[in-house]
Amino acid sequence: MCGIIGYIGNRQVSNVLINGLKRLEYRGYDSAGLCILENGNLEILKKAGKVYELEKLINHQQYTSTIGIAHTRWATHGEPNDINAHPHTDCNSKIAIVHNGIIENYFSIKKQLQAKGFTFKSETDTEVLAVLIGAIYEKCQNLEIAVRTALSEVTGTFGLLVLSSYEPDKIIAARRGSPLVLGISKNEFIISSDATAIIQYTSQVVYLSDNEIAIVTNNQFTTKTMNNQETKSIIHKLDLNLEQLEKNGFEHFMLKEIYEQPNTLNDAFRGRLLVDEGTIKLGGLRSVYDKFRNVRRLILTACGTSWHSALVGEYLIEHLAQIPVEVEYASEFRYRNPIIYPDDIVIAISQSGETADTLAAVNEAKNKGATVLGIVNVVGSSIARATDAGIYIHAGPEIGVASTKAFTSQLAVLTMLAIMLGRMRNLSAIEAKKIINELANIPDKLKKILENAEHIKAIAKKYCKSSNFLYLGRGYNFPVALEGALKLKEISYIHAEGYPAAEMKHGPIALIDENMPVVFIATQDEIYEKILSNIEEVRARKGKVIAIATEEDEVIKNYANELIYIPKTLPMLTPILAVVPLQLMAYYISVELGCNVDQPRNLAKSVTVE
Ligand code: F6R
Repeated sequence: MCGIIGYIGNRQVSNVLINGLKRLEYRGYDSAGLCILENGNLEILKKAGKVYELEKLINHQQYTSTIGIAHTRWATHGEPNDINAHPHTDCNSKIAIVHNGIIENYFSIKKQLQAKGFTFKSETDTEVLAVLIGAIYEKCQNLEIAVRTALSEVTGTFGLLVLSSYEPDKIIAARRGSPLVLGISKNEFIISSDATAIIQYTSQVVYLSDNEIAIVTNNQFTTKTMNNQETKSIIHKLDLNLEQLEKNGFEHFMLKEIYEQPNTLNDAFRGRLLVDEGTIKLGGLRSVYDKFRNVRRLILTACGTSWHSALVGEYLIEHLAQIPVEVEYASEFRYRNPIIYPDDIVIAISQSGETADTLAAVNEAKNKGATVLGIVNVVGSSIARATDAGIYIHAGPEIGVASTKAFTSQLAVLTMLAIMLGRMRNLSAIEAKKIINELANIPDKLKKILENAEHIKAIAKKYCKSSNFLYLGRGYNFPVALEGALKLKEISYIHAEGYPAAEMKHGPIALIDENMPVVFIATQDEIYEKILSNIEEVRARKGKVIAIATEEDEVIKNYANELIYIPKTLPMLTPILAVVPLQLMAYYISVELGCNVDQPRNLAKSVTVE
């Protein structure tokens, strides 16, 4: 949520900043802006809209500067217009900042500053911080002290970059709650909200910790606590390449990521499926094996799509390992004083590893003494670092705002976890082998679904003008229904609801008429007959049935207006396959309606505010 980047070195900085903002744009795209130091003065350009609009402003300027900061915004305080766009400055326009996060006490600080005669141009919380830093600088005449003092007065979260013409040789960076990565190359540094904007220049990075500040000049950097104690930085090597950040011939990142799923699933499985032994090896959990043996209850916490995968995880773990599981929205968990026992294990699931609510839930569970683990995609992210141990899903960078490959990889990891836990309890080696063998077949089965994309596209074309959709499934397929509905609404803006199929008759059935497409995930499992009855109930009210069904199921032909087959697999593995046609259908409907697939309105990839 909001992307920030700063550069100091010997390159022409406006190009570096614009390229960086393009990489970060998936984090927010309401407005973009930059500040560079040109001939000793702060030069600021900012514009509502996408980075492209900012780039147009710059095109005819001949800048020589090699130091600057920039921002792409997901609006929180104040509408997305030119004035509210970052950077913001102090009242003398000598100090500029870009900020990701929220200054919670901005209003009271603003009132105090206004009482002293300071004035404001924007409605943002960030400008209050800029003016506060400026006010303190007037007294102490030292930028670092001014930044540290101001930050000790604010509450909330920040990933912050500061540039000033008072001290033109440095960028100051600070972090609390919002991520910051410092890229280190020869005589140049790039500081950014995430590594995607850095990898082009270097793979050597330092992840700033919470409440850490970095003072970065042309040839060195120092990191400190907010209390001025120097800290030791560990340099990490990024496991990322530029190709992973390009569309590689696909029209959209979302489509590329859907098509990557056979490979990303294989990456999630690599080295972890011990077929001969009938078990699973999850190296990242080695240190907590004993805790798993004695665990009384698992709590899975997450947001959005990751929360849907947690629901599948609940079914899997209770089924295979017979351990009670609770699934919690991270945003609720953190505020409701949850009861947590010392022998509980809390698992946070997050693609980005930066979701503010999930991170706060992790901290809440840690404070209450639980063992806290992560199932995370982004290596080195805040959640990955805040948890006691964890499992990376290895899906690679997910750039499309709608999560696709991360979801299926999360399901793969949760299945492996459930098998591992089952083997610690009553799951036999024979039964486990059967599941593991089938798990290994899933990537090839998923490929077969992708080969059917044209058929799904035709269905999307036929129904794209509908105003509402219902998605229904039972058992393992209920979370898939939720995920299908979420995919559709976020990228096409069509209203869609996911429901357990049997719940339909308790209310949503009132919505059904000849204009309502109802997507049933109706694969053959032990409750197949029941779902056929639910389909009948919809047909009786003239609803249009789109069924996701098991290949070679002839019966379903009598029930569905449209049919999408998926290969046969174990019911517990069905969600990994059944979600794929729903991803494709949402994608093609969005394209058909002319929506911005990769950057849907009002959304951002990494939700780092509450
Ligand atoms: C939906 C989507 C969001 C995220 C949610 C959590 O397509 O992407 O619902 O799943 O914001 O994000 P992570 O998994 O990064 O914690």
